[in-house]
Amino acid sequence: MIGIFDSGVGGMTVARAIEERLPDCGLLYLGDLARTPYGSKSAATIQRYAVENTRLLCERGALLIVIACNSASSVATDIVRQQFDVPVFEVITPAVELAARRSRSGRIGVIGTRATIGSGVYQRLIRAHRPDAKVFVQACPLLVPLVEEGWRNRRETKMILRRYLAPLRQRQVDTLVLGCTHYPLLRHLIQPRIGRRVEIIDSAQTLAERLSRFLSQNPALHAQLQAETTKRYLVSDHPPAAAATAAAILGRQVELEVVSP
Ligand code: DGL
Repeated sequence: MIGIFDSGVGGMTVARAIEERLPDCGLLYLGDLARTPYGSKSAATIQRYAVENTRLLCERGALLIVIACNSASSVATDIVRQQFDVPVFEVITPAVELAARRSRSGRIGVIGTRATIGSGVYQRLIRAHRPDAKVFVQACPLLVPLVEEGWRNRRETKMILRRYLAPLRQRQVDTLVLGCTHYPLLRHLIQPRIGRRVEIIDSAQTLAERLSRFLSQNPALHAQLQAETTKRYLVSDHPPAAAATAAAILGRQVELEVVSP
């Protein structure tokens, strides 16, 4: 099975893209809702959670791990790779490569949680891929709770987004990276507030393509992943809003099984 984890249900945006791209592979998703949000926690804590989540997924049969959380991808990818002998994918590199390729002016905006923006990883990687780039970042700590709460069309959400996006708009970015798994759910509100001409980059599709390419180069692993085709969704807690948000992301109702990492 492909093991995927996130701090909550937002990472299901990545799971959905993988399901669409690789429908014949088994999938085991873990949303760590008991310990969400990750984005306001220290790097050491996020690393511990990432290791525990990966262990749970591997013990339940994951043969490959996708860290579908920007905050964990930013600070915990190296430690997960060191401690587990399975291929590990993260969500930052695919978004960075796409943004560096697509931006015409080199003025690239990135929005994310405090952990992601504070890690400096997007700034560093974008400049590594495109040395002439000017990177403008904005931490948006209020957005994740709004999405988890289902406030995807509320006036308050629009006002907060306007405040967060105004500095990036002033800097005239032509590309905006959604550096958090929850933000694709606000894309319809982000686009008009950042500007219709700004290209929005969401790593889910690019990551799914990259994974599919990797598996076509690793047919033995691909065949093992195809041996088990079920899709299971685990959560470490089951708060009331979770099922509705999961259904909105996946486009169908799924059973959320409670586990403890
Ligand atoms: N999934 C996290 C991310 O992509 C956002 C939610 C959180 O802060 O836990 O950064």
